[in-house]
Amino acid sequence: MGRYLVCVTGASGAVYGKRTIEALWSSGHEVHAVFSAWGRRVFETETGLSLDAWLDGIAFPRDRLYAPDDLAAPPSSGSWRLDGAAVVPCSMSSLGAIASGATTNLVHRAAAVALKEGRRLVLVPRETPLSLVDLRNLTALAEAGAAILPACPGFYHGPETIADLVDHVVGKILDRLIVPFNGVGSAYSGDAARGPDELFRRWGGDTRES
Ligand SMILES: Cc1cc2nc3c(=O)[nH]c(=O)nc-3n(C[C@H](O)[C@H](O)[C@H](O)COP(=O)(O)O)c2cc1C
Repeated sequence: MGRYLVCVTGASGAVYGKRTIEALWSSGHEVHAVFSAWGRRVFETETGLSLDAWLDGIAFPRDRLYAPDDLAAPPSSGSWRLDGAAVVPCSMSSLGAIASGATTNLVHRAAAVALKEGRRLVLVPRETPLSLVDLRNLTALAEAGAAILPACPGFYHGPETIADLVDHVVGKILDRLIVPFNGVGSAYSGDAARGPDELFRRWGGDTRES
């Protein structure tokens, strides 16, 4: 089991961050989280949940949720061991801060630390259309070693619900964050207790009967 950091910013698509935390936590990983101020606000707007009530509901250890302005928290340091970090969803604002190196909160700092330490960093941008500035920031971060994984669900796996679409993206996030994946064991036994192979069906060729 690994130690992972999930950062949720104020882009639309808070449910992607929610499901990423649930999937990692339910698989028995040590999960740490940071919600930016706007990440918390958009989470509560889009899910209709109180962030604190939701975290309590999945028995998330509260000492692993860090305030975004706490630059003395463990994820701020490269000496704190971490197997990988994801910023999901990643706003264009946070993307720009990470790409420029001008880190002003714990989300930016943790991402910068992952890059400088050569650790897995998955960025899940959510914006459309993308400006040239956004595209250049994405290119700079890909060149610096981040995995750019846009919140673009596929449709080839026969999704029937919004949750199916969300889980397709979350499964892809886990594929990039956790290598090798060891999705067994469960600290949380809700319906979210699924690894990437249960989150989305992998393409194995078109098996439809003609
Ligand atoms: C409901 C709502 C949806 C938003 N959706 C997006 C989005 O999809 N992409 C984006 O880059 N910013 C979006 N924003 C704007 C960001 O929240 C804003 O740029 C904020 O400063 C991001 O700060 P953060 O990166 O520290 O969370 C949205 C804001 C609100 C209130």
